[in-house]
Amino acid sequence: MKFDLKSLSLDEKLRLLCGRDPWQLYTADGKLPNVFVTDGPHGLRMKDYAYEKYTPKKATAMPNFCVLACTWDAELAFLDGATIADECLEKGTDVLLAPGVNIRRTPLCGRNFEYFSEDPLLSGVLGKAFIEGVQSKGVGTSLKHFCANNREYDRLYQSSEVDERTLREMYLPAFEIAVQAKPWTVMCAYNAVNGVWASENEWLLKDILRDEFGFDGVIVSDWGAVHNSYRAAKATLDLEMPYSSKSYPVLKEAYEKGLITEAEIDARAEKVLALIEKCATQKKPITTDKAQRHENALKIAREGIVLLKNEDGILPIKGGNVVVAGSHTESGGGSAFVTSDYEARPLKEELAVRLGDKATVIGTKTQLGVDRFVQNARDTYAAASKADYVVITVGTGTTNEQEARDRDSLRLSCTQEDFILGNARFNKNVVVVLQAGSAVDMTPWIDKVKAVVLAGFAGEASKEAIADILTGNACPSGKLTETFPLRLEDTPTGETRGDGFVERYPEGVFVGYRWYDTYDKEVLFPFGYGLSYAKYEYSDLEVKKLGETDFEVSYNVTNVSDVDGKEISQVYVHDVFSSVSRPQKELRGFEKTALKAGESKRVCVKLDFRSFAFYSVPMKRWYVENGEFDVLVGASSRDIRLSARIEIALPETEQYSF
Ligand code: GLC
Repeated sequence: MKFDLKSLSLDEKLRLLCGRDPWQLYTADGKLPNVFVTDGPHGLRMKDYAYEKYTPKKATAMPNFCVLACTWDAELAFLDGATIADECLEKGTDVLLAPGVNIRRTPLCGRNFEYFSEDPLLSGVLGKAFIEGVQSKGVGTSLKHFCANNREYDRLYQSSEVDERTLREMYLPAFEIAVQAKPWTVMCAYNAVNGVWASENEWLLKDILRDEFGFDGVIVSDWGAVHNSYRAAKATLDLEMPYSSKSYPVLKEAYEKGLITEAEIDARAEKVLALIEKCATQKKPITTDKAQRHENALKIAREGIVLLKNEDGILPIKGGNVVVAGSHTESGGGSAFVTSDYEARPLKEELAVRLGDKATVIGTKTQLGVDRFVQNARDTYAAASKADYVVITVGTGTTNEQEARDRDSLRLSCTQEDFILGNARFNKNVVVVLQAGSAVDMTPWIDKVKAVVLAGFAGEASKEAIADILTGNACPSGKLTETFPLRLEDTPTGETRGDGFVERYPEGVFVGYRWYDTYDKEVLFPFGYGLSYAKYEYSDLEVKKLGETDFEVSYNVTNVSDVDGKEISQVYVHDVFSSVSRPQKELRGFEKTALKAGESKRVCVKLDFRSFAFYSVPMKRWYVENGEFDVLVGASSRDIRLSARIEIALPETEQYSF
């Protein structure tokens, strides 16, 4: 089925570039099939037209990306995407507005729960797999928000002021990697980049995204991100959403004034027609039902939970009297929030089912909010004074982590901190289950509790997943994809934010662990960190040279415990001597290895030219300098287990003299 541009009048082609309503494309009075687009990364958030007021349809609430990310597992990202795509097919959505791969530049960003990491490689690999998963079912995706949208503060009107090397090394690579999955659309960001709106930034949209990265799909605006319809079209933005009555007249007048040619309009309309054709012809059969989708959500949630502290090995819970209290949050807020139709049981019931007659699990009358609400704390304290364990669920909640707002602190609410400390006064075995989409400053209370489990926003299956981890039904394998600093002042951006005009990026490429490790700053928990009930050892590193900048890094990982588990090993590269300032180390590969108790496996990670390169702005290209590099194999960015020094000696013709 091919839709011929020639069958459309000029006016129809112009209207094709500006949608039909907030969620549907123009159909030229039925000449074209309808296309429905809708959010989001954590499940279907689709307007139910049966209601006047915006009411999203109920759907399976998958774990938020902050949890999927901590699995470091591309196969699970694929499964996540394919699972959501089945629900899109069931409910009639053609394009899912996800994934977001923006870099977590500051833990204060209100949408970090929708993104993967402070690292571009990890973000790109997981975003690419998610796109492949969704599109494997013939549903489109929208890789977003292109680019340098790293904070929600005044996001529609500020300009991200980022030097080119930083853009290319930190804020473009996740898109460059994810675009390899051929997303049907890429969504431009609201903000400007270096003074030009992302929606009409030809350097970004055409030179970089289309010409350099090879993107050949539709560039769609974020909702309301277009400031001038014809300038956006000339910059090769194809589709302005949502529909606005202003768009067509601006385009028509620009055409009549010769500001935009019919050839330029046709080029944009062709892209939209190609999208409509994909939506009409590529749908695949649905292969999951609600139960299976829930199981997939649970599988991802289990592997995305991170065990941060386990003093005296008090987890998994062995038995005895267990008190459970706190507030529960399953998702961040905004366009990514999914209204689940799953009836979840309380955490205390999920724990009781798993512990059976080994334990007595009780809830309390305490009511705890994620803001400053608490009622009847004493009821938990009284129970805690006689219990073997106290499990407290706390978190940031949608109050603090939601679209269009940033957090104003890294700490939990004072009432939640007090509640943790209050229980620690009455019980020495406090287990904190933390539900947050980004780093939290735990310094006021972490020394007073025995265990901390980061459950992120784990979706509708969160209570089951948490109970599986706390009782040992599942062995924790998740690892942090964002550094948890000791305090906000230690972060590269600190308390700063934009001034309403410009968000400056003075830290350059030194983002996340690139900052903390280069400037040797103490952190609470490093990038790539996560404990387990199993124990792993690394050995026998070999770095085989396959070409001047091609290497095969291999090493053994052994599970030396009596618990089956999965270990995420990471490969970093350190440039020993460089003519430009470079991060102390950069993640260049990673593997997740399933290991039964006592089992050993050899892991292999490939390094190539870009593993060693930095972007040279004067030379306008990626550049590898001759010299020595360290290959570092770690269980986290701060727990390097193996290392080897290698030498790169490219021919003189390929080297810039310095
Ligand atoms: C929102 C978000 C974007 C979302 C779109 C449609 O403002 O920035 O991520 O997909 O609009 O809801």
